[in-house]
Amino acid sequence: MEIFDAAWLALREPIDGRSRAELLLKHLYGAWEERAWTRILDLGSGTGANFRYLAPRLPGEQVWVLLDHDRSHTQKLARLQRPALVSGLTIICGDVAEEGLTAVQDTDLVTASAMLDLVSEGWLQRIVSCCLATGCGAYFPLNYNGGINWLPKHATESGGNTVVNDNLVREAVNTHQLTDKGLGPALGPLAVQKAERLFREAGYWTLSVESPWLLGAADAPMVRRLLEGWVSAVADLYSGDVSELQVWADERLEDVSRGRCILRVGHSDLLALPPGRV
Ligand SMILES: C[S@@+](CC[C@H](N)C(=O)[O-])C[C@H]1O[C@@H](n2cnc3c(N)ncnc32)[C@H](O)[C@@H]1O
Repeated sequence: MEIFDAAWLALREPIDGRSRAELLLKHLYGAWEERAWTRILDLGSGTGANFRYLAPRLPGEQVWVLLDHDRSHTQKLARLQRPALVSGLTIICGDVAEEGLTAVQDTDLVTASAMLDLVSEGWLQRIVSCCLATGCGAYFPLNYNGGINWLPKHATESGGNTVVNDNLVREAVNTHQLTDKGLGPALGPLAVQKAERLFREAGYWTLSVESPWLLGAADAPMVRRLLEGWVSAVADLYSGDVSELQVWADERLEDVSRGRCILRVGHSDLLALPPGRV
């Protein structure tokens, strides 16, 4: 089981919050109201970031089901504060491929934040079929889409001192993203494209919009954490001296911390609305 520790989820929550695509949220809130939806299922809830973001913003009554397979997270979910419009809250400790798919039949909207890049094409096909059978909508925000860019484009890419360069790291990270996270070979950066195609083939109206993380000096703790993860992921695939990777990472952290560049990490949000009124 891939572990997403609470400290990592807490670090990303405010950044995710400011990165969500507004245009998509506007369509989501409109659909919720027009279609008189009340039931929402959040898959891979973690410690509840998606609930904390959406519950105070969705117009009207809400009955939530939150599901995660990590018991340390579901224990925290049980202590969530409920905004007034939340009339029901059920926590399930279970698997998105088992209890998660079953729960789709009792919902109006399936959501999952920062989740699609972890899943396989097979799971996507199954969730789209379940959504179609139920006639529910889907909102999948904040999925990593393969973009790692240091802006302005970093000088070392055109011949600096480090052996390792930004392109090499991005490609290795994106290859690593495709490893199995427990649901079959992960779609990683391709997930939103694939999901959008499957929903369209099922007759859904879809909209995908980029929701990049833009990380500056104030976000240095996040940049540090990302770099640690990337160095460790890339080390498995890198044929050179691993200390070269660390030199690269130290330089990039220094660049962001001193305000010489910002780090843009590509994410995408997807909304899929069932056939009928849009
Ligand atoms: C990247 S975290 C996102 C958490 C939360 N949605 C957020 O935005 O902070 C992915 C979450 O999915 C959960 N998860 C991963 N695979 C799962 C599975 N097969 N069944 C249930 N939960 C799963 C993890 O435990 C983790 O909490």
